[in-house]
Amino acid sequence: MSSSAHPAFGDIGACVFDAYGTLLDFNSAVDRCRDEIGGKADKLSELWRQKQIQYTWLRGMMGRHQDFWQVTGDALDFSMEAVGLDDPAVRRKLMAVYRTLDCFPEVPAVLRRLKEAGLKTAILSNGEPSMLEDAVRHNGLEDLLDEILSVESVGVFKPAPAVYQLAVDRLDVSRERISFQTSNAWDAAGAGHFGFKIAWCNRYGQPMERLGTMPEATISTLSELPAVLGLDA
Ligand code: LAC
Repeated sequence: MSSSAHPAFGDIGACVFDAYGTLLDFNSAVDRCRDEIGGKADKLSELWRQKQIQYTWLRGMMGRHQDFWQVTGDALDFSMEAVGLDDPAVRRKLMAVYRTLDCFPEVPAVLRRLKEAGLKTAILSNGEPSMLEDAVRHNGLEDLLDEILSVESVGVFKPAPAVYQLAVDRLDVSRERISFQTSNAWDAAGAGHFGFKIAWCNRYGQPMERLGTMPEATISTLSELPAVLGLDA
């Protein structure tokens, strides 16, 4: 890799991406149903995401794994009740839309740039495999990703180390040569403790979690990633 790379990213062999919130805009689900939901839309979107992630952690701690599709639906049910929205048609539409979330605008060009540079690319996500495949196909990203890795292969959610190990095993690249991109600071911490090089994509302007590790780089969109890796514009 080029000498202009960020010092920690000088010998990267693969770029691995979180899906929801990093490649895929989860707010685009509620956005597409805004007319039906009205003034509660932003609150619903925020709560849905919070609950979805909480349930992954809680299920992990309880040893009661269910796949991310189930967890996403359970979190939506909780959140709709919490904001006082009782509308089965809206629920059906939100869940259908969640399978075809839009990617963030820079994603195709960035992935193409990484592939042109000879890097391996992959998704590593809590998402259940068919959810991820639907979203990848919806956004036309099939040819830009070498692997679509789901936690369902190991039966436990992030940030369990077994999830991050999946990328090492399937890409055949050592952990310190993997650049991991996520917008979730807790995921950045988990993957950082595992030993990936972390480019935290802080799309939502959040403070860093206090979990005992710091990302090697912080970017605000994935457009900044090629420069971190020392790739020419
Ligand atoms: C994922 C969630 C954590 O894609 O965003 O794994």
